[in-house]
Amino acid sequence: MAARVPFPRLELLCAMDATWGIGRNGALPWHIPKEFKYYIRLSKKQEDPNKPNVAIFGRKTWDSLCALKLEPMAKCINVIISRNMDPSEIAKYKDVYVCRSLEGAIEMLKTPQFKDNIGRVWVHGGSDIYKEAMKSDHFYRLYLSKIHKSYECDVFFPKFDETKLEEVEDPDALQGLQEDKGVQFQVHVYQTKGECALLP
Ligand SMILES: NC(=O)c1ccc[n+]([C@@H]2O[C@H](COP(=O)([O-])OP(=O)(O)OC[C@H]3O[C@@H](n4cnc5c(N)ncnc54)[C@H](OP(=O)(O)O)[C@@H]3O)[C@@H](O)[C@H]2O)c1
Repeated sequence: MAARVPFPRLELLCAMDATWGIGRNGALPWHIPKEFKYYIRLSKKQEDPNKPNVAIFGRKTWDSLCALKLEPMAKCINVIISRNMDPSEIAKYKDVYVCRSLEGAIEMLKTPQFKDNIGRVWVHGGSDIYKEAMKSDHFYRLYLSKIHKSYECDVFFPKFDETKLEEVEDPDALQGLQEDKGVQFQVHVYQTKGECALLP
């Protein structure tokens, strides 16, 4: 039976290579437009047009999106997790918030301002934010694009035991083996069974 996950349900979105690498020098180590377009489409797709999705980022991932001129993620409520960022840095943006921890972001989303007014809550990484989200009672799903190639990486997805999660179908995820620019990848959707899947 599927585990009951309290609101807000966290859904993680990530692409990793064959070594579990996810980043290098503050950017993506690869250029796979088909995977990137899928990532943007899924994170923005709204079930209810009046309820924007939430995009939660670690501060460095936020910086990497800013470097790509993607800031803030349009039509989403953007939440940056940072111990040090001065909120004045994002004062010019609408719908962008800074929280001091993932737990702080979860508490903020439970308040009346957000609770009934948001769609899916996507966690966009990086490494420690994914780890904290997978440890949380609020962890629901991991949408993981596994890239069948190795790149030089300096940031990695936290190791987890696939058998502690249930692999599920989602028609919104890319189905089957994909290929772009000569690189193969496949999207796997994992759902919590109620136990922590992280390896020590
Ligand atoms: N392949 C993918 O799908 C994917 C996804 C995401 C990111 N990436 C890549 O991964 C790299 C960035 O990830 P990263 O792991 O290095 O950094 P990150 O998690 O994006 O950002 C790290 C920063 O977030 C804040 N932070 C992290 N954990 C926190 C906590 N528990 N409480 C409060 N603040 C916390 C801190 O910000 P302050 O220093 O401001 O306090 C910390 O320095 C980039 O290369 C990016 O391109 C790839």
